[in-house]
Amino acid sequence: MFDTKSQLNDSLRVVADHRRLNEAIFEASSDGLAILDGQGRFVQVNRAWEHIVGRPRKAVVGKTERELEGVLAKPGEPTVWERVRLGSVPRTMLIKSERDTLVVSVKLDLEENGAVRNAILCVRSLGRLNDLKERLSKYEIGDYGKIDEFHAAQLKALLRASGFNDVVLAGQAFRRVLSLVAEIADLDATVLISGETGTGKGLVARLIHRLSRRASHPFIELNCGAIPENLVESELFGYQRGAFTDALRTGKKGQLEAAHGSSLFLDEVSQLPLAAQVKLLKFLDDKIIFPLGGSAPRQVDVRIIAASNTDLRALCAAGKFRHDLYYRLEVIPLTIPPLRERRQEIGPLVEHFVGCFNLEFNQNRTLAPDVLSILESYHYPGNIRELRNLIARLVISARDQQITRDDLPENVRAAASCAGRIAERVPLPSAQIGSADGAISLRRHFQDSEREILEHYARTCRSAREIGRQVGMHHSSVVRKLRKYQIKLGARGGSNP
Ligand SMILES: Nc1ncnc2c1ncn2[C@@H]1O[C@H](COP(=O)(O)OP(=O)(O)OP(=O)(O)O)[C@@H](O)[C@H]1O
Ligand SMILES: [Mg+2]
Repeated sequence: MFDTKSQLNDSLRVVADHRRLNEAIFEASSDGLAILDGQGRFVQVNRAWEHIVGRPRKAVVGKTERELEGVLAKPGEPTVWERVRLGSVPRTMLIKSERDTLVVSVKLDLEENGAVRNAILCVRSLGRLNDLKERLSKYEIGDYGKIDEFHAAQLKALLRASGFNDVVLAGQAFRRVLSLVAEIADLDATVLISGETGTGKGLVARLIHRLSRRASHPFIELNCGAIPENLVESELFGYQRGAFTDALRTGKKGQLEAAHGSSLFLDEVSQLPLAAQVKLLKFLDDKIIFPLGGSAPRQVDVRIIAASNTDLRALCAAGKFRHDLYYRLEVIPLTIPPLRERRQEIGPLVEHFVGCFNLEFNQNRTLAPDVLSILESYHYPGNIRELRNLIARLVISARDQQITRDDLPENVRAAASCAGRIAERVPLPSAQIGSADGAISLRRHFQDSEREILEHYARTCRSAREIGRQVGMHHSSVVRKLRKYQIKLGARGGSNP
């Protein structure tokens, strides 16, 4: 006979089993998960959430984010729930919390009438993701080496698929930069790219845009150092007709508005005048622009990617760049190391550029065996751009089909032979190491090398500042050492230390 009581018990058991399974899955997730109800109160959080956010569940369940200010949003900033209510919640956002930078994504569970029944927050720690990556990249052997190779192949495929076929990916340092790029491209957070001139900041900025969901919109660039100081604000924010004497009759859209839905690349951001820095800071806070001479503010959706080849921290300390803007810009900091710290990339870059320019200039040049080692020991103050231009020149102007050391510019040959002589200098006899004599000759050894390097650069550089840039030393130390060794600046005619 049909037993409704046992049927009911079976159904209850199935429901209980489902609930247990759901709870186990919720707890097992290594991503932090939180469920909010329709009023924005925490209903439940999992163990990973407690660990990542740093608050036990009993302290949060039943409370709203506002009541827990500082846990996710900082005081005065909109909470995730408030963004949900405004309908402006991005797919993924970066939140700087008390302890860490968190990657937060939100999934909404809606009623039939569109009201929010529940919001599910998924939280990951950017610090932990980076730590993990750092740990993996330190091991290049065994299985970790394989992971690295696999990762490099994935990155190359990604570059090809995004139309960046010309990018050479040949060393750990640049690979690390690009894997971070791949990870953060689709987050809407502001990025600050630092690196010396010619290291590839522009290239990395374009790649971030291309890999983001904004890729279908045109990438807008503004070089803050290339516009006269008095025009920067109108370039950025635009103006209404009649805003100032030379204003166009029609008014003009600023680059922030032109980049609506897209990314705006602010190159040489260190050159931004202080007044424009204040306005940019305000914009980064509320994403609203007030065109010059106009009254109607406009909300724009733009992702800022900034770049600088000068040390912004030092500029902040000197009062030339606002600290608060610096922190707003470097939500995601990316640093591209100079080429002299990535020497293993020089060979593959040379090979790549020789191939490209042979094709472009219809040549068939090859390199004499010693040319590559000279190129590998030069220090490239202009980084990859300098190397690229150098190879273009060699391909165009070499005397024979094979490029020899005589085709190299004098400064490259001289710097390389200087480096070679220092490397070849006779080592100290082991008996002297640790003895007083050893200490004295070691010092002499260093001083000879130092004098030789400075004498070389003093012949080719115009100022102590330029020498400092070439040898990676502060110019005041260069001045001191030039005095110590009685070296005069100057074959090129400069006399100003
Ligand atoms: N890994 C790479 N592979 C191939 N080409 C590269 C690579 N990195 C940079 N380049 C090339 O080097 C040149 C300089 O790069 P880019 O203009 O992006 O440098 P930058 O850091 O923006 O310089 P600046 O500070 O002077 O503006 C470009 O031609 C770029 O395509
Ligand atoms: Mg650039």
